[in-house]
Amino acid sequence: MKHAWRVLCAVIAVIGVWVVARIGMGLVGAGFVGPHHVDAVRRLGFVDVIAVAGSSDASGQQKAQALGARRGYGSYRALIDDPEVQVVHNATPNYLHAEVTLAALAAGKHVVSDKPLARTAAEAKRLVAAARDAGVVTAVTFNYRGNPLVQHARQAIADGQIGPPRFVHGYYLQDWLINDTDYSWRLDPEKGGASSALGDIGSHWCDLAQHLTGLRITEVLGDITTSLPTRKKPRGSVDAFSAAGVAEVDEVAIAVEDLASVLVRFENGAKGTFSVGQVCAGHKNDLVIEVCGTSSSVGWRQEHQNELWFGHRNRPNESLQKDPSLLLAAARPYAHLPGGHQESWADAFCNVMRDVYAVIASGPPYRQLTPAVATFEDGYRANRIVEAILESAGRGGIWTKVAE
Ligand SMILES: NC(=O)c1ccc[n+]([C@@H]2O[C@H](COP(=O)([O-])OP(=O)(O)OC[C@H]3O[C@@H](n4cnc5c(N)ncnc54)[C@H](O)[C@@H]3O)[C@@H](O)[C@H]2O)c1
Repeated sequence: MKHAWRVLCAVIAVIGVWVVARIGMGLVGAGFVGPHHVDAVRRLGFVDVIAVAGSSDASGQQKAQALGARRGYGSYRALIDDPEVQVVHNATPNYLHAEVTLAALAAGKHVVSDKPLARTAAEAKRLVAAARDAGVVTAVTFNYRGNPLVQHARQAIADGQIGPPRFVHGYYLQDWLINDTDYSWRLDPEKGGASSALGDIGSHWCDLAQHLTGLRITEVLGDITTSLPTRKKPRGSVDAFSAAGVAEVDEVAIAVEDLASVLVRFENGAKGTFSVGQVCAGHKNDLVIEVCGTSSSVGWRQEHQNELWFGHRNRPNESLQKDPSLLLAAARPYAHLPGGHQESWADAFCNVMRDVYAVIASGPPYRQLTPAVATFEDGYRANRIVEAILESAGRGGIWTKVAE
């Protein structure tokens, strides 16, 4: 009898640990990027995909079924009210970011927000304050930080391997909005915000530049262009990257930029320049960034993300192929396959989730997130940079300070 009681207690304890150790996530917005949130957290092994919320009951149910979530909801509020959902992933179009994130924080849920954190810097500031008040774990998916070679480059720069950064340059170009039959909510300022290409992908480049160098962008000078002033907007809703070929369309005027060139200044006096465009043929998801220090340079290209280039003056340049055994210690946890086995966008995304959920799993008081995870503060800063670029361009291209 005594033995049976002990066995029962042990079983209850094991179940208790199992129940406590598992974390429930809910996804709001299952279009292009939402399913990647689900894939990433599933790979962690201790996260249950509890629910998906769509823009209607039908789409919530259908997307929950397609993604293997336990429940589908037609409203994000129902998902937030689900007691099993501990972490809310916000992958809605930008205009819903603040609303969904504020509701989740008010309910005491952890939040992983897709970028940009909000449609405006003012909205982002409210989210930073709400996150602080809620005392939960919050993060923004500037997911290129999760690449092992990005982490290697960041550590190499911090270790002084290239000398203090002097010049940071690059671009982020895509071609999925090159035709007037290409359309996205990103081109509607009510839904995407006052900026399109800069907010959508320029924010990634700026975050990466600051992350790699450890330096803040303090001033900008921007030139922005709307290459296609009218487009054919599909009558129904379409997920990102899939508007072309839709039969029922309306001709609409476009006010936001699809192309931009920007000069930047960093807090240490370093200079920089980058371009963004979503109308540049042949460039699919072509993020390029190079940091030139006083002694060497380091460069990374997303479309060849398993290689890191080092440039030198007095010795041959180097190309570091991703290989855990060759990475700096700080970067090694972000590589999961041996050398020669290519790692990808989705792996870097998963790395960010791994760091976020490790902190959630550790319980309160929550320890600091790793540098590979962008915080709401980082998201707010990216919003401020984009707004400063728009302001600069609007005033004819003059140097403009990023609001502190
Ligand atoms: N981190 C990255 O690299 C990355 C990549 C792509 C997109 N994003 C960001 O993710 C967000 C979503 O972008 P996307 O490309 O997936 O867009 P998308 O249009 O493909 O998907 C958005 C989804 O949200 C759904 N939705 C709309 N209103 C909703 C509501 N009220 N409740 C629930 N769901 C609703 C839509 O039906 C759609 O399925 C954007 O903020 C975007 O900037 C980030």
